[in-house]
Amino acid sequence: MAINNWYKDRVFYQIWPRSFKDGNGDGMGDLYGVYEKLDYIKSLGCDGIWFSPLYPSPGVDCGYDISDYMDIAEEFGGMEAFKKVLDGAHERGMKVIMDLVVNHTSDQHEWFQKSRQRIEPYTDYYIWRPAKPNGKLPNNWDSLFEGKAWTWDDVRGEYYMHLFAIQQPDLNMDNPLVREEVKKILRYWLDMGVDGFREDVITFISKPEGLPDDKLMPASKGIFMFNHGPHLHEYLEEFKRDVFSKYDCMVLAEAPLVTPKKALEYIDEANNPVLDMMIQFATQEADSFMTDYIHMPFNLRKLKKTYTKWQEQLDGKGWNMLYIENHDHPRMVSRYGSEKFQKESAKMLAVSYLFQKGTPFIYQGQEIGMTNWYPSDPEMYEDVQTRWQYFNVATNKSPEKRLQRLWHGSRDSARTPVQWSDEENAGFTTGTPWFYVNENYLQINVTQQETDENSVLNFYRQAVQLRKQLSCVRNGNYKEYGKLSSSFYTYSREDEKEKILVVCSFIGNAKKWNMPAGFDISKAELILANYENTDDTLLQPYETRVYYWKK
Ligand code: NOJ
Repeated sequence: MAINNWYKDRVFYQIWPRSFKDGNGDGMGDLYGVYEKLDYIKSLGCDGIWFSPLYPSPGVDCGYDISDYMDIAEEFGGMEAFKKVLDGAHERGMKVIMDLVVNHTSDQHEWFQKSRQRIEPYTDYYIWRPAKPNGKLPNNWDSLFEGKAWTWDDVRGEYYMHLFAIQQPDLNMDNPLVREEVKKILRYWLDMGVDGFREDVITFISKPEGLPDDKLMPASKGIFMFNHGPHLHEYLEEFKRDVFSKYDCMVLAEAPLVTPKKALEYIDEANNPVLDMMIQFATQEADSFMTDYIHMPFNLRKLKKTYTKWQEQLDGKGWNMLYIENHDHPRMVSRYGSEKFQKESAKMLAVSYLFQKGTPFIYQGQEIGMTNWYPSDPEMYEDVQTRWQYFNVATNKSPEKRLQRLWHGSRDSARTPVQWSDEENAGFTTGTPWFYVNENYLQINVTQQETDENSVLNFYRQAVQLRKQLSCVRNGNYKEYGKLSSSFYTYSREDEKEKILVVCSFIGNAKKWNMPAGFDISKAELILANYENTDDTLLQPYETRVYYWKK
């Protein structure tokens, strides 16, 4: 795994390819567009890119349903365009990580097509079960996206398991041949020069023996049965032993519901780690529960508690992956920030996590403070999970209320094209965009923000640069202050050379504030702020400040 822990000094940028930038005018984001924007990504101070899936896919789950793991989709420019981007990124000192989606494939993958016909060696590549004599499904688990976790296949005459969409059958990771296929895929990309992987729902790959019903918490869809299954650690160890340990690569694992304690079973550096970092979901749950559909008022104390828990419990043992946005959650300005104070709150949210200990990820469009999207018609949604929620989940709420719920909960809220300029289609494409452009592109776009030195974009650049300069941010202690406050989040970072204090207001009104005891404001240097004039005893709406002391 990563030699010298190179990933600890980097800031990653996540590209969700369909909506990043279209370079050939067909309306779909692609690698030509990425190539055009490599210098832009570099200009943010980012020196790593995570690509959401680029592989051939029918697109049922926007690329997370893969039909060929050893190729790049034609719609994204194919292998030639990918190699050009990979080289271009490396020339600029940027690492590139791919998405590895091996809990499931697309039902169009050759393996599944052969498996359903019982063609060897593919017969047991997936999780097949006969119908039960009583007509019941093989177990009571639900799909996390739509309906039950089982679909009947007429060709094979059996049910197959799918924890996600019907067209995303789960692989049978207990089959050693499947694990060999995974290793082949890993070697293929690593040999080509990619620098690591973000492993999609990897904690789901080992299902419990006999696939028992979830009797304790059936409403949880079975997730407590298949998350961190019995052989997960063993399989991750095998991937490390046979592949990762032979390359200088980074492995980041998506891990729904993971706690710091659980994460340390995989990432404790002193204890033969099988992963470098894990993506926790807890920081997404300060206004929702488990999925963004169960929406609640934003609770700052809950967020702070989670931040601090991860900072403290991993300290000196494992490494945090830091993020506030990705392609699976609505935009943060619209959730923990404020659209009314779009500029202020986007900057504040950046500071709230960028100075923590760990490796930060910035999701496309986050750096200009993009906001949620509010379509007038549920038919405008594309996402399979969103559509199921709206069209199939029975509720007694009015259509208006249900639509509003999607505005706050849908993954599509963060999947509208990046707003590059105030030109047609936000400068995303010269053709017809594959998806709707958020109408606020006239106010929020990259070109405008390039020319404004106080823009969210330039603030991100400043914050990332500062983070890289400060040794206390890389290695220093983390301490939180004012834990009971429902308005402010305050933390310090400190090493033997220097100390910073980070202050973030999460409220839309001005409020009295005092620097925590023990910090001498008269000796402090204010190194980052989102208001021009600062008052020592008051914080403005969504104000943020970073104070610095040299020792
Ligand atoms: C997590 C991915 O981030 C999400 O976009 C995808 O739909 C599911 N895993 C299934 O692959």
